[in-house]
This record gives sequence, structure tokens and C-alpha cells, in this order.
Amino acid sequence: MTEYMTMTADAPISRSTAIKLYDEAGFAGMRRAGRLAAEILDALVPHVVPGVSTQELDDIVRSMTLAGGGVPATLGYRGYTHSCCISLNNVICHGIPGDYRLKEGDILNIDVTPQVDGWHGDSSRMYIVGETSIKARRLIDVTYECLMLGIEQARPGNHLGDIGHAIQVHAEKHRYGVVRDFCGHGLGKVFHDSPEVVHVGRPRTGPELRPGMFFTIEPMINIGKPGIRLMEDGWTAVTRDRTLSAQFEHSIGITETGCEIFTKSPTGLDAPPYVG
Ligand code: MF3
Ligand code: CO
Ligand code: CO
Repeated sequence: MTEYMTMTADAPISRSTAIKLYDEAGFAGMRRAGRLAAEILDALVPHVVPGVSTQELDDIVRSMTLAGGGVPATLGYRGYTHSCCISLNNVICHGIPGDYRLKEGDILNIDVTPQVDGWHGDSSRMYIVGETSIKARRLIDVTYECLMLGIEQARPGNHLGDIGHAIQVHAEKHRYGVVRDFCGHGLGKVFHDSPEVVHVGRPRTGPELRPGMFFTIEPMINIGKPGIRLMEDGWTAVTRDRTLSAQFEHSIGITETGCEIFTKSPTGLDAPPYVG
């Protein structure tokens, strides 16, 4: 049985197996953190150009996070030493920023998590360097649709399985593979909390959604099979069959009637093409 715990001002901020239900103060905190995440992802758009290194993008994320009154939650997280993850082409997630310079046609996910007053705003988007192939663009479009179809299912009375099901059906309709090895997660003052938000599933299964639940939805979709391979650095996850992979992530909170997306772009730059 799923356990829930109501969060009061003095409630513990540690990881729990019970699902935390937050109050209005929690929504206010997540709004600030989510807003900063979205502003950082917005501000990166003009910097994603041929020749820029992924480390330079990480530097921008770090300085924007600090300027916005936050701290990058990934810095020092389980030994990770960067301010964001940058996952290129066949990298599924947790790509480490470094010396690689972007080139025309690359597709990449940038995943940021500013922590503001202890609250975590976790979000990622895909970016395209110049122009890319039709098949890469189609993968990006469908992956964003998967995220939004999942979010459409996020309302009280529905179950986590309804979210996974909506994502899986849409991805597989396009013959894409849904990654099973990584999932979305509860968050709040804890970066990765319960529940696990799996991106496949059956309707009416899994924990029931209740007002006050905060979690991410972050489907990783491969052109080929779902299988992953972890690289020697212990972080970078790539597609086992070397096909392209895409991901989008929002942090949301369940309300009385549906959900609030904490990490929505204030300027409409939620998905490419990012043209004004
Ligand atoms: N932001 C990632 C997520 O969506 C987590 C990155 S943890 C790191 O959950 F250590 F790899 F940065
Ligand atoms: Co996340
Ligand atoms: Co993330």
C-alpha cells in the first residue's frame, strides 16, 4: 500500500518511502525554484551554437543559478562536479560537460536543477545546434509530446501508471523505445525522493495521485531500442544500439483539479524550434 505524509512547517526534509504531500508554502517554494530553472534554460538558447564547449554552457548555468539566488543541486551530488548535465546525440542522460565543442546538427539535452531556499526546480529541454535531420527533429517533437501527454494525466484520482501508459503508447506508436533504467522522481526539499515515476505502465496501476504531491516527469526516448550502456565515467548513459535519444523534464505539483507545472518557460521556449 502506498503511504502518504502531510508536510507541515516542521516536517522532516529527509528522503522517505512515504509520498510527501506539500502545502501552499511548498507550492510557493517550488514556484521560485522552478521559475529559475526555466529562466536558465531560456537564457541558454542563444548560447547553443557551433563551436561552444559544453563546459562553457555549464559555466553559464552555474553563474546564472548563483545570480538567481540558487545553488546548482548537482554540484557535489554523489560526487558529481558540474552544474548541469549535457547529453548529446546518442547520450540518454547524465552527460558530463567538458571540452567537446558543439557542431552543426548535434542535438542535446540540458538538465538543470537550481536549489532555491532548499526547494529543487528540476527541468530539462532539448536543443538543436543549427539545423539537424528530419528524423532527429521528429524524435524531439515526439519526446516533448510524450512529456505533455504524461502531464495531462497528472490529476487527483489518476495513478502514476496512467502517466507512464500515456507516454509509452505515444512513443511506441512511433516505434521508439522508452528507457526503463531511469525514471522521474518525487522532489521538494529533497532532490530525489519517492515515488519513482516510471515512463511506461498500465492504466489505474501504481500510487494514486493526491493534491500536494510534487514530482518530475522526464521521459527518455530512443529512436531504437530502450537498452542503455553506462560509460566508464560511471555517469554517462548511452543507447546500447547507438541510436539518438531525447528527453524533456518538468517538475509539477498536483493541485485539487489537475497540476501546476513549476518549470514552464515564462517566454514560451519549452521546446524547439526556439525562434521568436
Ligand atoms: N537532473 C537529473 C534528474 O533529472 C539528475 C542529475 S544528477 C547528476 O533527476 F548528478 F547527474 F547531476
Ligand atoms: Co529529475
Ligand atoms: Co533533471
